[in-house]
Amino acid sequence: MKRPLWIVVLAAGLGTRMRSGIPKVLHRLNGRPMLQWVLDAAEKLHPEKVVVVCNRSNIGPIQNAMSQNRVEFVIQSRPLGTAHALLSAKRLIDEFSGDILVLNGDTPLISPDTLKRFLQRHRRAKNSLSILSFEIDNPSGYGRIIRDSAGNPIMIKEETDLTEEESQIREVNSGIYLMGQSAFKLLRRIKKNSRKGEYYLTDILALATKKGLRCGVYKMGDEVEFIGINTKEELQKAQRLMRQKIVRVWLQKDVEMMDEQRVYIGPDVTIGEGTYIYPDVYIEGKTSIGRNCIIYPNVRIVDCKINDNVTIRECSSLEESVVESKATVGPFARLRPGTFLKKGAKIGNFVEVKNSLVGEGTKALHLSYIGDAEIGRNVNIGAGTITCNYDGIRKNRTIIEDNVFIGSDTQLIAPVKVKRGAYVGAGSTITKEVPEGALALSRTEQCNIEGWVKKRFKKKRKS
Ligand code: UD1
Ligand code: CA
Repeated sequence: MKRPLWIVVLAAGLGTRMRSGIPKVLHRLNGRPMLQWVLDAAEKLHPEKVVVVCNRSNIGPIQNAMSQNRVEFVIQSRPLGTAHALLSAKRLIDEFSGDILVLNGDTPLISPDTLKRFLQRHRRAKNSLSILSFEIDNPSGYGRIIRDSAGNPIMIKEETDLTEEESQIREVNSGIYLMGQSAFKLLRRIKKNSRKGEYYLTDILALATKKGLRCGVYKMGDEVEFIGINTKEELQKAQRLMRQKIVRVWLQKDVEMMDEQRVYIGPDVTIGEGTYIYPDVYIEGKTSIGRNCIIYPNVRIVDCKINDNVTIRECSSLEESVVESKATVGPFARLRPGTFLKKGAKIGNFVEVKNSLVGEGTKALHLSYIGDAEIGRNVNIGAGTITCNYDGIRKNRTIIEDNVFIGSDTQLIAPVKVKRGAYVGAGSTITKEVPEGALALSRTEQCNIEGWVKKRFKKKRKS
């Protein structure tokens, strides 16, 4: 059987360097709270349990913001340092005999891949304690890894306790640890740091090596992943780096961009080769985009499946929708959740579609609302067509079968059906089913009053 894994995320620090009323770990990094990024990475390791350590004042907002996650919360009674924070979970952990992975709530760029490899190293070496380290040009602010002459790690020293010589060390502590029960037990023996009055989790390395426990400090992953965010400036920097890192992956895979500085791609997005992206495009959530698509400026796409050869013109918003190949959307189009555009469908400017199927080759090019509708293939939806789907109580469906022509400025009062090949004259209000091949008209007949204008002005002049 596989050894169970628990993950503890430390998030009880006061975050004073952030200078903000919002808990530090709830500050947004590219649209998502920092802590959410950490929990998402944690979840990819399939842990048995995830515990978040909060303090008394931030637990409320954190629990609220994280309510979608499968986590337990514990409270660190006072902000007495990282070792004290981890010990706050001892009531849970004391009985646990698997691996404990410790993450920081303020290190949100960590990649699940690096964590997986770290876990493998720890397990293969049968360590009691493993620490993830990295090298950085400017190590200030991070705890330094102190090694003996043979290169074995012996302790971690925090910034304030360094000698001049030690402060040159560029290998630093990421704040990510793996430990078993034997190392966890040593936490109680950590002494208060006299300078800061805190119990430093970093002291566990010196204690464990002295005790003769198997320890390893592993340099792995990419510097960017371990950026700890303590200030607003660091948050900005982390956002830039995260965005850049993702964008470059897609550039490598033959996605083209006019300006790589102005494209935002979420970590769970996939994009096919040959797709071209203009500036100021946001692709978020679990979106997949096919090959050879063109996405024009000012487009936001969230949780969509876009097939090959799709064109999305400027200023369009797409959410939870499916767009089949060769379809075009926009400019200024809005696809709301539940939209399904079949192959080659065309949705044009100022058209809103919601919870609707739009058939192959069907066009709605101007100023329309299509909601709760099922539209067949090769249908023409004229400008200003509205499916009146809401009667004040219920949402009702509109069905438009293949090859129908809907004239401009038509209202379809749902529930209603327009059958195969029928025509609806412009300006109609359709309340009843339109039979196959019929022409439906529902407008008052035009009457012309000859000479009316002249007569009107004569009257006015007299009076
Ligand atoms: C810590 C490490 C440092 C490492 C760096 C990596 C210690 C003493 N230092 O420094 O070696 O290089 O992270 O980013 O561990 N926290 C609590 N309770 C507390 C104090 C902190 O839960 O009483 C939490 C914070 O919310 C944060 C994490 O622990 O998520 C780290 O604390 P922080 O104060 O940011 O430590 P650093 O100074 O960054
Ligand atoms: Ca930190």
